[in-house]
Formats: sequence, structure tokens, C-alpha cells
Amino acid sequence: MPDMLKHDVLVIGSLNADLVVRAPHFPQPGETISGDDLQIIPGGKGANQAVAAARQGASVAMLGHVGKDSFGPFLLDSLRSNSVDTTHVSADESATGTAIIVVDASGQNSIVLSAGANGKVTPKDIETLNIEAKVLFLQLEIPLETVIHAAKWGKQKAMIVILNPAPARELPDELIANVDFILPNETELSLLTGVPVTDISSTERAARVLLKRGAKNVIVTLGSKGALVVSSQQATHVEAYKVDVVDTTAAGDAFIGGFASALLRGVEVEAAAQYANACGALAATKFGAQPSLPTKEEVEKFIK
Ligand code: RIB
Repeated sequence: MPDMLKHDVLVIGSLNADLVVRAPHFPQPGETISGDDLQIIPGGKGANQAVAAARQGASVAMLGHVGKDSFGPFLLDSLRSNSVDTTHVSADESATGTAIIVVDASGQNSIVLSAGANGKVTPKDIETLNIEAKVLFLQLEIPLETVIHAAKWGKQKAMIVILNPAPARELPDELIANVDFILPNETELSLLTGVPVTDISSTERAARVLLKRGAKNVIVTLGSKGALVVSSQQATHVEAYKVDVVDTTAAGDAFIGGFASALLRGVEVEAAAQYANACGALAATKFGAQPSLPTKEEVEKFIK
């Protein structure tokens, strides 16, 4: 048996080439509009979260699939240039995952995913992993069966399992019960629980549904309203930082990387969420997914 590779964070998830156009507004059905020049930017929730944690100083490994097209090496280069261990990112015959993104004048986005190779990540990939990590990041851009398997596997190995339930979908209790921190936004929380989420008190009510279903902690990202940290003992509203928003793409990924790296440094959950808010806010001030993710130094300077 080869030696176990030790990391702070293991990400099992997606890599996407983001095909991004900035436009004055989102097109209506049947409408054609003109936007700026197309930009191809490294993205994918899994890869973004890997880079987000690495830029915060964590040692990170990623498991995922790309295709044997030109986007594959492009995405691997971005991970490697951020010191993410890509030993377990394999190339297969599918196309690399892509995300078609429109960013409007207010910095909000609209995204259509084409899973490609991300759809080929299987439970078998996980069984052969020779990695030990303190924290496991999961999202929902790879098959659900694999995410469920990964959460159980991570729990058995005593990892802190962090699930970002995005893109939004309903989830089985067998997944939620193996998660230490679930981090939905308001839309995802509403879809997950069936509770309409309109304000802080309905957010807390919905979060408590997830606690009842077995999640240990729920952290709801609220965009410009900050975040709500809910555990069985308490609910704490963490205020947002005010910034000029350029593009919100990957702000949630920056939050997760920042949150986990703060936890790894021994910071308490609420304070880690506050730090993560700063990471998300900074990411929203820059265009694109991975290029917008802040370093630890940038976040510390911003907080000061
Ligand atoms: O979270 C942002 C990411 O969502 C983008 O990079 C895009 O690839 C989609 O997966």
C-alpha cells in the first residue's frame, strides 16, 4: 500500500471551463442581446473551492474528472498554479465540464452547466484514494450517488464534511446526516426544506429543518445580508461587508474556502463565518471565478 498523502482539505467535485459574457441584462426567452467579448475562465464549484482554500494557506488535494480536450489542461494548470494537488484529477473521453455564464450590469449571474466529465466521477474513484485530510468539501455538480458515498466515506475517516448543496436540489437524509456543515444560500435552503425563506426568522426555521434531518450545523449565506450560523444551541447572524459588486460568481466558493481555512486555524465557528464573509465580499469585487478568489493577506488587509 503506497504512503497516505496528507492534506488539510480534500475536494471531491467539479471542474468547469466558464464561458463568460458580460451583458447589460439577462436575455428574455426569445430575445437576442449583445454582450462584451467572451472570456474563458477556470471555474467549477469544486475547483473554485479548492483554489479558495489553497489561497488561504491550506494544503489542498482535488479529486475530479476533466476531458481530453484543451479545457482539461487549462483547468489543471489553474489548480497547479495555486498549489492544489491534482494527482487524483483524471482525464477521460467525455468533454470537460463547461458553464455558460452571463453576468449582468449589477454583477449577478445566470449559469447553465454542461456536466461533461464531471458526470463521470464515481464512488469507485473514492475507494482507491490514498489521501488523508482533515476537511472534505462536497458540492452537487458531480453525480449525487458519488456525493452520498463520499460523505459516508469522509465521516468514516473522521473528516469534517462540508457540503455546499449547489446547484439546488432535494437531498436524501442519508447525505444530510453525514454532513458537519451544510452551506446553502437562501434559494437552496428553501428548495431543500420546502420552507419559503424570506427573512432571518424564516431562514432560521428552515435551517432547523436541516438540523432535524441530521445536519450538525447549517450556515446560510445571505449575499449582501451576511450569513446565518445555526446549530442546535444557537443562531447567530453574521453581518456582511459592504463592497462594490463587480461579479458574484464564486463568492460562495470563496466563503467556503475561507470558512474551512479559518476552522483549520482553530477559529470558532461564528468567527470563521465572519472571516468567510470577508472572503466572499472580496471575491464579488472581481470578475470571474478563480481569478477573483482572495489570498489570506488580501482578506486580512481588507478586514483591517
Ligand atoms: O460557483 C461558481 C461556479 O458555478 C462557476 O465557476 C461555474 O463553473 C459553476 O459551476
